[in-house]
Amino acid sequence: MSTPKHHLFICTNTRPPGNPKGSCGERGAEGIFDTFKARIHARNLHGEVQVNSSSCLKPCQWGPNVVLYPEGTWYSGVSGEDVDAILDATLEGRVLERLRMPPEAENAFPRALPTRESTDT
Ligand code: FES
Repeated sequence: MSTPKHHLFICTNTRPPGNPKGSCGERGAEGIFDTFKARIHARNLHGEVQVNSSSCLKPCQWGPNVVLYPEGTWYSGVSGEDVDAILDATLEGRVLERLRMPPEAENAFPRALPTRESTDT
């Protein structure tokens, strides 16, 4: 068995209704995950692309979020109608710009605290 060339992770985390962070699960991520699985199977992309669900990836308010490795490409606001376009871009080595995670979403990721060494001059 070989590892897939491209590995997609889709956040399917669900928070209770009314949680201020919201969640990808509330926005239909489970259905999108199922669509990815069905389209990978229908297009016989096994070995090329694998999709797995994940827990929270952090930029919750921009979800549903998908991250692609080894490319390190992040997609936000993904819907089931975007699945084939994401697969096409992945196979062609392109980034689907219209779904690229917005730069401001990077603030959702924790930053390393300054160390004593980095603050000494
Ligand atoms: S709930 Fe999906 S990124 Fe946090």
